[in-house]
Amino acid sequence: MKSEINSLEEYKREYEKSITAPEEFWAEKANNFVWRKKFGKVLEWNFDEPLNRWFIGGKLNITENCLDRHLEKKGDKTAFIWEPNNPTEKTINISYNELHKRVCRFANVLLNNGVKKGDRVCMYLPMIPELPVAMLACARIGAIHSVVYAGFSSGSLSTRILDTKAEIVITSDGAYRGSKTIPMKAIADEALLSCPNVKKVIVVKRTAENIKLNAGKDVWWHEEENKVNDTCQAAEMDAENILFVLYTSGSTGKPKGIAHSCASYMVYADYTFRNVFHCSQNDVYWCTADIGWITGHSYLVYGPLLSGITSVMFEGIPTFPDAGRWWEIVDKNKVNIFYTSPTAIRTLEALGSDPIKKYSLSSLKLLGTVGEPINSSAWEWYHKNIGKEKCFIVDTWWQTETGGIVISPLLNVSEQKPGYAMLPLPGIQLVIANAKGEEQKGNDVEGILCIKFPWPGMLRTVYGDHERCKKTYFSDFKGLYFSGDGCKRDKDGDYRITGRVDDVIKVSGHLLGTAEIENAINQHLAVVESAVVGYPHEIKGSAIGAFVATFKVPENSEKLKQEIIEQVGKAVGPIAKPEKLFFVHELPKTRSGKIVRRILKKILEGETENFGDISTLIDPFVIKELVKVVSSEKKFAKIGL
Ligand code: WT7
Repeated sequence: MKSEINSLEEYKREYEKSITAPEEFWAEKANNFVWRKKFGKVLEWNFDEPLNRWFIGGKLNITENCLDRHLEKKGDKTAFIWEPNNPTEKTINISYNELHKRVCRFANVLLNNGVKKGDRVCMYLPMIPELPVAMLACARIGAIHSVVYAGFSSGSLSTRILDTKAEIVITSDGAYRGSKTIPMKAIADEALLSCPNVKKVIVVKRTAENIKLNAGKDVWWHEEENKVNDTCQAAEMDAENILFVLYTSGSTGKPKGIAHSCASYMVYADYTFRNVFHCSQNDVYWCTADIGWITGHSYLVYGPLLSGITSVMFEGIPTFPDAGRWWEIVDKNKVNIFYTSPTAIRTLEALGSDPIKKYSLSSLKLLGTVGEPINSSAWEWYHKNIGKEKCFIVDTWWQTETGGIVISPLLNVSEQKPGYAMLPLPGIQLVIANAKGEEQKGNDVEGILCIKFPWPGMLRTVYGDHERCKKTYFSDFKGLYFSGDGCKRDKDGDYRITGRVDDVIKVSGHLLGTAEIENAINQHLAVVESAVVGYPHEIKGSAIGAFVATFKVPENSEKLKQEIIEQVGKAVGPIAKPEKLFFVHELPKTRSGKIVRRILKKILEGETENFGDISTLIDPFVIKELVKVVSSEKKFAKIGL
């Protein structure tokens, strides 16, 4: 299916219709899919509850739309070009026919292992074809997939397994990541010590290292596949059944399992994929995101497959065996559309343009970024060195909760303004609110980014905790979805995201909750309490700074630092390790006991005097000590990572 938006007039027409007749607008889009039973009412909504339902009464299966409907005309077309971590290993092309067969076969494996409609299946897998196969197999039989990023630690994995009450986990023996091998099964085993509810573990053989299989519980993927055939009727799903749960960090408490439903997620992933990336049927598309994040779900698995597109899936990292690896893959597969993150761009920018020189990159037509604000130097570098100044760049703003892209520059519609996400997509009614939740009308305004009308990709709930969904997203300002991001609408009406306004930190594009990291630090016996903040970092966007109050002055502070940092790595994952860690006597607190992170942030940014209103602090002198500690630490080499 082609894109609807190819000019400014078309954008205006689509946008206008999506606002004046949203139900008609989305019904038209939805009619392009295969339904087992047509939907009745398009939308019922209430932001207070929140209760938002789309395509009511409709029945379908998303895999029939991703796979079956393409088979007649493009069964032999490549769905995925899988590039292994090690370039000497063979590339694998998987056609739509083969993918369909593999999904059906694995769906039968799941059924054979007792998985039923509505059951949760947790996946802890590297970027290998078995991951999308397992997700689609779940969708085929109506089970809910919950993918956990392979870089997370055993502690993070067990929290997520326990939260969904999954009884089945899919993992691999190991994973290749650059020159390293990650012991996935051993990490999963450690997580499972605290998950008595898990009855079955299906293990993919990838690295062939020695692992322990627990009798009666652990089975090999390939052996299970031999027991079943490759035809499997797709389950008839209600439009509003949950398709998947994906965890994202919040400013407090444990991570939130964001739940998306079958039909409207599909309609939105498809519409946004087509209109932002403009892939034509012969194009090769590559999204570098890991499937463990929402970008991988919507724009590596569902979006491209719904369009019947050929995409690249890469197992490794951009710097292995050298910093030219991505560009080698682009040239080899003649990639036309390329979607990545600002943090990856900055990493490669720091390594210079030499690794690019060998490659022509002439197949590229359109480039994209997602995950955090892109600074202008990274944007210019990307535009010049990768896009050769001829590729349009889409800086797409969205969230795990929005299911798909919400704000983006659009090809042949908007101009290019580095650092700007530019325009709301059709169906998206943005509001810039002030601190009281009042809409800031007109242009040249700044505030908090909110959305005032439902869109099909929106989350339905926080799995198992609807109250938390209401509290986090629909309670700050009445009648508005609260994004947690600051935003500017400039004099031309274009949008620019300015960063988070709450206590979450984006490190290399990964959202991390301060509470999770602080909990991990506080578990150390020497620690009284801690506060974690983000501060600007050249490559990572933000890095983590930790202020730690100990019971007594540490005898060997370097050793204690390392212990605490390791503990965070173990409890949350390596990406959450503090880059800087300071021991302090006290943290700055208000009289009601709330840690004032705003001040810690300023100190880390180098501020020494100007802290705004500090009258609510119990002891304003604490700041002096903090400034001293931070400025003297600067003389020492950086610790951590
Ligand atoms: C947060 C959501 C959406 C897929 C990946 C991240 C930040 C995302 C942009 C952008 C500035 C961005 C926001 C947002 N963010 N895209 N183009 N410009 N900031 O999903 O992990 O749910 O994170 O990422 O702060 O709230 P996520």
